Amino acid sequence: MEMERTFVLIKPDGVQRGLVGRIIGRFEKKGLKVVSTKMFWVNEDMAKKYYAEHEGKDFFPGLVEYVTSGPSVAIVLEGKGAVATVRGLIGTTDPAEAHPGTIRGDMGMDISRNLIHGADSLESAHREIRLFFSPQELLDYSRVDRTWLYKE
Ligand code: RTP
Ligand code: MG
Repeated sequence: MEMERTFVLIKPDGVQRGLVGRIIGRFEKKGLKVVSTKMFWVNEDMAKKYYAEHEGKDFFPGLVEYVTSGPSVAIVLEGKGAVATVRGLIGTTDPAEAHPGTIRGDMGMDISRNLIHGADSLESAHREIRLFFSPQELLDYSRVDRTWLYKE
């Protein structure tokens, strides 16, 4: 079966509000496999690299300040269609409009404090995984529930 890997970053508000366990729990419960995770204090250089697509927009300076304001948790997740599945679980960019049941819809109030980032394509996922993790940090193992999650 074709498995995808995707990248998420629990932003500083998620860490400060004590939501790390609950957010990772949503991905685990869905059936996504955690391939790697680490806590990371994103510096300005990193923030500008991983949000390069938004450079020049009016919210860019605030975005860089936000994601560098405290530690974040970087996570690599694996599963069938992981990129789209994770974006769906996260919900739309503005938590005020995100549907209930999504992470942003259930846990956030403001577009500038939206708790979590998720890669928006397979290409972004690969780029972001490379930016945050070395190849040896991506662990290769099977979860015991695999045959109950997927019909091969
Ligand atoms: P992300 O990249 O963080 O997963 O979020 P996204 O794809 O849902 O949204 P994107 O358009 O890529 O925006 C990146 C982040 O910039 C902040 N933002 N603020 N104040 C504003 O109008 C505004 N617009 C975007 C959010 O933190 C958003 O997640
Ligand atoms: Mg984005």
